[in-house]
Amino acid sequence: MQAFPSFVQMSYSFRMTSEWWRTAAIYQIYPRSFADANGDGMGDLAGITSRLGDLHDLGIDAIWLSPFYTSPQRDAGYDVTDYCDVDPRFGTLADFDAMVAEAHARDIRVIVDLVPNHSSDQHVWFQAALAAAPGSAERARYLFRDGHGTAGGLPPNNWESVFGGPAWTRVTEADGMPGQWYLHLFDSSQPDFDWTNEVVREEFRRILRFWLDRGVDGFRVDVAHGMIKADGLPDYTPPTAGGSMGGAGGVTADALHDTVGTDATGVALEPEISDEAGDGAPYWAQDGVHEIYRDWRALLDEYPGERILAAEAWVDPLSRVAKWVRPDEMHQAFNFAYLETPWDAAALRTVIDASLDAFGAVGAPSTWVLSNHDVVRHATRLSVTEPNPQGHGLGPRSAGLPSYAPGLRRARAATALMLALPGSAYLYQGEELGLPEVIHLPDDARQDPTWFRTAGERYGRDGCRVPLPWEGSAPSYGFGPSDASWLPQPAQWAELARDQQRGVAGSTLSMYRDALARRREHGLASGSVEWLTGYPADVVALRNGDVIVVANTGSTAIELPAGDVLLTSEVLADRALAPDTTAWLRA
Ligand code: BGC
Repeated sequence: MQAFPSFVQMSYSFRMTSEWWRTAAIYQIYPRSFADANGDGMGDLAGITSRLGDLHDLGIDAIWLSPFYTSPQRDAGYDVTDYCDVDPRFGTLADFDAMVAEAHARDIRVIVDLVPNHSSDQHVWFQAALAAAPGSAERARYLFRDGHGTAGGLPPNNWESVFGGPAWTRVTEADGMPGQWYLHLFDSSQPDFDWTNEVVREEFRRILRFWLDRGVDGFRVDVAHGMIKADGLPDYTPPTAGGSMGGAGGVTADALHDTVGTDATGVALEPEISDEAGDGAPYWAQDGVHEIYRDWRALLDEYPGERILAAEAWVDPLSRVAKWVRPDEMHQAFNFAYLETPWDAAALRTVIDASLDAFGAVGAPSTWVLSNHDVVRHATRLSVTEPNPQGHGLGPRSAGLPSYAPGLRRARAATALMLALPGSAYLYQGEELGLPEVIHLPDDARQDPTWFRTAGERYGRDGCRVPLPWEGSAPSYGFGPSDASWLPQPAQWAELARDQQRGVAGSTLSMYRDALARRREHGLASGSVEWLTGYPADVVALRNGDVIVVANTGSTAIELPAGDVLLTSEVLADRALAPDTTAWLRA
């Protein structure tokens, strides 16, 4: 058992005590873009601390922070050089401790990101590996291999980087000659660790303990399906063009849409979600990853306070994702099948059933998520009319772009449905303001490695990462004290700023706040789903405890059933539920 430093004495008392993670509403903070205390245009930990009151007011239970560790920021911090320190751009360890203390004082738990699949190429281990000889202990912490072909001039296999281009880069050896190749499933600045090496495993146990001792309540584990590669690193050609964030295929909205049907009574048929992710891909979802998480779970369980592990595993189908949350492994896994489901009643019923069945079968809660820092914001995504593979992003040349108001309307309806479901819900910063994807970023402002590795063919993820607006008429819309912002903010931020929406009936912020409050009040997160019949096929209608939820994904208004209206995603003039609207009623 660890001794706790005095600053993390467990003196705070949370609203939820037992198994809090089964029902938690968890808010993702993308530190670069949340709040900037020092005015350099980059968000920071002090900025987060200063805005925790707003998050408490919103009614969330926990925050998850994307990486704030020391990093050259080639992939916005998912390229770490020191796993146990704060990058000076974001502050100091003292700022981190202050943030945790303030969050805990407000009953908000703190989950941090852990990036174990790869480090930065500037990590001291990788620099040592470059300086050492082939076959050395230094190289054995990463995946160095000799090339094929004449003088090893071809990569060791045909794997492609998730961000585009080859997954191998050749190094120059000490004698100045081209030498071995190293594997990077992402950018060339993100070399993959060799997780068969016990030295790597021990180092990550140390890193876990470092943050647990500082009082964190859990870890979101990046690329939790990628750490083990198949023996011999065999060639692999994905059946479809890749693009999912670490997913060999993933579940595309189209795939789900195409394979889901309804029977004559409108009841959803069994899902046939495409099962290409991991099946055959020698770098995703290898069985060997699970022993790592069993080891980590045992380590976390030594600590009081139910610290958690949440898997970012782009694996398909959900019954397979459930392996990550077996009782002795992680607590939660992101439900990307739900995120990738189109706004379609049959598809939604199917994925909700599949989620509850798959996670329920191993005793885990389902999670629900619609947006994060890797996907097109759902205020835009759910209304895009042309295929847009995950990770490709949207920009001025993209086809099928929706206009703002109808996109937002659908997103609000989708959120109101999601927050009525049993399990743990993830929210991404800014969705509570109804922020759309920012389409018109200048090319020279874009920073996502995807943009560079595909020579601008894919826009990448910058459009969902634009710094938040807090005050409509302040410099940088209140993001920071100056007008600096690492990505330019659109003029639309003025009207969407938090201060323009706070306390305003009908605003997106008010809807999120009300939904989170009623979700808690009615115990929806610990409830269950009972499908209601007698509604048109394009309406999702369910009962969860004493609440009836009706979501109209069709194109015709329907009459609401009897009962007091508890929440609506749009202001209703009468009891007609218009298209793209969700209502909660007292049963
Ligand atoms: C993160 C991405 C990141 C990638 C590589 C992911 O899945 O969410 O933002 O680029 O891992 O670390």
